[in-house]
Amino acid sequence: MGQIVPAEIEQYLHGLNRAGDEMLEQIARDGAAAQLPLVDAEVGALLRVLAHVNGAQRILEIGTAIGYSGVWLAGALPPGGMLLTIEKDPGRAKIARANFARAGLAGRVNVLVGDAALLINKVSGPFDLIFQDGYKPLYVTLLDKLVNVLRPGGMLISDNVLWDGEVVPGFVKNPSRNADDTRAIAEYNQRLNAHPSLITATVPLRDGVAISVKRL
Ligand SMILES: C[S@@+](CC[C@H](N)C(=O)[O-])C[C@H]1O[C@@H](n2cnc3c(N)ncnc32)[C@H](O)[C@@H]1O
Repeated sequence: MGQIVPAEIEQYLHGLNRAGDEMLEQIARDGAAAQLPLVDAEVGALLRVLAHVNGAQRILEIGTAIGYSGVWLAGALPPGGMLLTIEKDPGRAKIARANFARAGLAGRVNVLVGDAALLINKVSGPFDLIFQDGYKPLYVTLLDKLVNVLRPGGMLISDNVLWDGEVVPGFVKNPSRNADDTRAIAEYNQRLNAHPSLITATVPLRDGVAISVKRL
């Protein structure tokens, strides 16, 4: 459980959002067993709603892990839609591909293996929705590149922007997260919210989710 939303409220939302999807629950259990920092079901449900609102047909994700958030996103795509998701770790990418296949989504997901900082220069937009959940020190580096491949009116969703509250000076008495990562996210938040091409709101759900829309 995180520091931001009271545990009882998170537990309640958790129960609501997980109901009925054994496939997602299994991936979440596998992720927890491997101690992977996957989004939670509450964030997955938010991603799914935003993809529907946005009418997303082409989605880009940075940080696939084993495909948990990807299943939420790809599940919201219409027939013919496509999720392109980038993962540096080949072992995780392999498991992700298997999970997409088990979810019946293999036909609409392309997992690219490699460093997002390099691969971003090879992907061609425009994307309707981009989910940034990769390596935190790269958030600032990638920001303008992601905005460039986002269509006007498209959404950039960034996870972990409150970093368990550690991004707020003095809020967490004994910070446990890497201080460089915390500084990187603090800088990202400044740039994201001041970006001339974006309109941004941050939702204090789980670890903090920033939702940005590219100006028309
Ligand atoms: C927070 S996890 C992603 C979780 C996933 N989005 C989910 O919720 O199911 C971040 C992932 O980014 C990957 N990663 C780290 N550095 C990367 C890089 N430079 N390029 C691409 N992926 C990277 C990690 O291996 C890790 O699997």
